[in-house]
Amino acid sequence: MNQHHWKPRKVVIVGAGNVGSTYAFTLALRGLADEIVLIDANRDFAKGQALDMMHGQAFFPSIQIREGGPADYTDAALIVITAGAKQQPGETRLSLVQRNAIIIKSCMDEIVAAKSEAVVLIVSNPVDILTYVAHKVSGWPRGRVIGSGTVLDSARFRHLLAQRCNVDVHNVHAHIMGEHGDSEFAAWSITNMAGMPIDHYCETCEKCPEPRLGRDEIVAEVRNSAYHVIGYKGATWFAVALALADISTSILRNHHSVLTVSAVLDGEYGEHGVALGVPSLMSWRGVDTVLQVDLPEEEAAALHKSAATLRDIIASIDI
Ligand code: LAC
Repeated sequence: MNQHHWKPRKVVIVGAGNVGSTYAFTLALRGLADEIVLIDANRDFAKGQALDMMHGQAFFPSIQIREGGPADYTDAALIVITAGAKQQPGETRLSLVQRNAIIIKSCMDEIVAAKSEAVVLIVSNPVDILTYVAHKVSGWPRGRVIGSGTVLDSARFRHLLAQRCNVDVHNVHAHIMGEHGDSEFAAWSITNMAGMPIDHYCETCEKCPEPRLGRDEIVAEVRNSAYHVIGYKGATWFAVALALADISTSILRNHHSVLTVSAVLDGEYGEHGVALGVPSLMSWRGVDTVLQVDLPEEEAAALHKSAATLRDIIASIDI
């Protein structure tokens, strides 16, 4: 490609439903992309979503939003796949695997055929398994095929801790790791409030007579957050769209953020053949480095349990 041509930061979103379109709207509001393309099996619906947003063009930073197709993969900087079956009330994310693995494989085959140089961000659930499938299909370097992982779960965890401790959520650094799902766990060992390890903070705060009391309940509330929202309104989309925008910022603006995206592991934590939400150093290339956090025994065991759960299901996929 002629290096003298301006190359717009182009984001292609597969799936123009609640998550995909709310994410597009968030990207546009934040001015994170120059061009956003919506791809959906229902082309008219994607056209309607794009047109509805473009009617607000005067209120955005400069942006072009339109409906498109596989040809748009070639020059995309970031491709975000939200398409697929959604959890129904009471349904686990893992139960969606076979249906959505077929969709992900089809998308990745088209992306590879288009000779795209983009980073691919998987959102469809079960996101860790589908991230692994997408990477295997692509044959790309593992950092270029990532998933939203437990970025949203970590945000939920931070929100609940901030509320309990009456501290600004931006002073709470906390990570949920492992599966974006029922086997996820809280990495209490690397949780800190305003730079203080949480146990030390609790000693100084004295707000809770028994600081460790209720921690399991907080983690259970994080783990069940999606079920609660789905029970009220049928699906989640606002917080996950904001999490996707946060991940996109670190890629499109080459911020070296540390995020618990779903990354394919190649020996980190002693794990192979699986993708999990672990703290990863991001850049314009996707995941630059999977950070090997020194976990205490209980947390390491939870990570291995999460990995084993997902590997068993990966082995059962027929695509
Ligand atoms: C949730 C969906 C994105 O946790 O899995 O809200």
